[in-house]
Amino acid sequence: MNVQRTPAPALRVLFVVSEVHPLIKTGGLGDVAGSLPQALAKLGCDVRILLPAYPACVERAGVLNSVASLSIPGSVDQVTLLAGRLPGTRVKIWLVDYPPAFNRTGNPYLDADGRPWDDNAERYALLARVAVALAQKRTPLDWQPEVVHCHDWQTGLVPALLAQEVQRPASVFTIHNLAYQGLFPHATFVHLGLPPAWWAFDALEFHGQLSFIKGGLVYADKLTSVSPTYTGEIQTPEFGCGLDGLLRHRSADLIGILNGIDEGIWNPAKDPHLAARYSPHRLAAKAENKQSLQRTFGLPVAADIPLVGMVGRLVEQKGIDLVMLCLPTLMQRPVQIVVLGSGEARYERALQAFAAQHAGKIQVRIGYDEALAHQIEGGADMFLMPSRFEPCGLNQLYSLRYGTVPIVRRVGGLADTVVDASASSLAAGNATGIAFDGDKAIDLLTALDRALTLYETKTAWMQLVQTGMAQNFSWDASARHYLDIYNSLAKRA
Ligand code: ADP
Ligand code: GLC
Repeated sequence: MNVQRTPAPALRVLFVVSEVHPLIKTGGLGDVAGSLPQALAKLGCDVRILLPAYPACVERAGVLNSVASLSIPGSVDQVTLLAGRLPGTRVKIWLVDYPPAFNRTGNPYLDADGRPWDDNAERYALLARVAVALAQKRTPLDWQPEVVHCHDWQTGLVPALLAQEVQRPASVFTIHNLAYQGLFPHATFVHLGLPPAWWAFDALEFHGQLSFIKGGLVYADKLTSVSPTYTGEIQTPEFGCGLDGLLRHRSADLIGILNGIDEGIWNPAKDPHLAARYSPHRLAAKAENKQSLQRTFGLPVAADIPLVGMVGRLVEQKGIDLVMLCLPTLMQRPVQIVVLGSGEARYERALQAFAAQHAGKIQVRIGYDEALAHQIEGGADMFLMPSRFEPCGLNQLYSLRYGTVPIVRRVGGLADTVVDASASSLAAGNATGIAFDGDKAIDLLTALDRALTLYETKTAWMQLVQTGMAQNFSWDASARHYLDIYNSLAKRA
């Protein structure tokens, strides 16, 4: 007998997030929000992304249609929803267009002086309220999610607001970085008109302040974080940023899922930003990228001097202070260093001042430059990431894929993704980089020296490079994991 099965309708998921590559990005959150929905769509999920209509998003999104005009509490004028697609994909997006909140150029969270916009609470409360309107089908749109997936503090109010509804979709909150919590004074709590009962230690109050992230941590049905090790770490006082008690309390609902990477965008065999494309079988071409990178940075073009790259936000998290402490000693070594980043002014200035005195060995670019980030991954021999904490980290994954040996501190996602080159792992052939413990300059220097010594032994180095390039950090397994969570919450098989 021929039994016709009607395929189950696709599971409907609303992604609420404050940045999405290639529309707007300040760090790895943007990468994840741009690539995970595509991986979920491939698995048959009907995932749609809601994010603010910053000017960059409107410019880059291509065709956008105004599809709804909403009255949102706290907003004087109507809020418009613009519908489109994530460029280069079939994934549907909605942009929340409210010029007083989002029509600002530059960094989405910070003003030109690097300070948080003083109305960030209002801006992301608005995003949350639009998300809830969509989730509760209080818009003219004929679509309702079964699961709302929120990311980081900017979306923390969504699970809290949803929890007040009698009937509602399930909520998932992903912690990409617990150190950013969205803390505001009590006056803001009052001004936002949030339910007075939320001013409690087991709700949104946190040491006398309003905490957006607690909205997610307390009220979401399920919590995830972006690597298994970080998920354990944030339940300890050392990494818990004052929220470890709450996270231990919710540990039954908290799970670590390692981020994947967009293998289309980060692929040395196809990367349009590179001077020469290469693969594990055509590795010789990597040398051309090194030359080109040395030229770009005005460093002596030398094939044999190990070139160390660093790309990232120049903030305490990334261990910049540790790097600064090591630099004088490193200048005695046969090494070149290139740094691309922006962040805290004290680090930007210190790096630039040091580089000005050692121009033949270290060069620093302050700013955000997508193409140059790819060129550093492609051209450097080693990639430095001595983070004090690292929820997942994507740059070390890009480095592995690009045959650029990562030197990392053994924390969070770095511990989960880089196999230290010890005698035994080298013998077993599964070493992929250098991972060190400790938080002193000497610990990093020792790690760098280990890398420089290994670099001298070409066969061992090639083995590290090749093993790194052979790793699989695609989204396949992790996206399936998220889908399982959504399905179990939506009670669907
Ligand atoms: P985090 O999210 O903590 O900043 P990740 O390693 O997860 O760290 O992701 C950082 C992402 O941001 C990577 O895609 C990296 O290339 C990119 N990035 C960071 N700083 C810069 C910069 N100055 N220019 C270009 N890309 C950058
Ligand atoms: C955060 C973390 C980083 C992680 C990224 C994406 O910005 O700092 O470790 O890779 O989010 O999840």
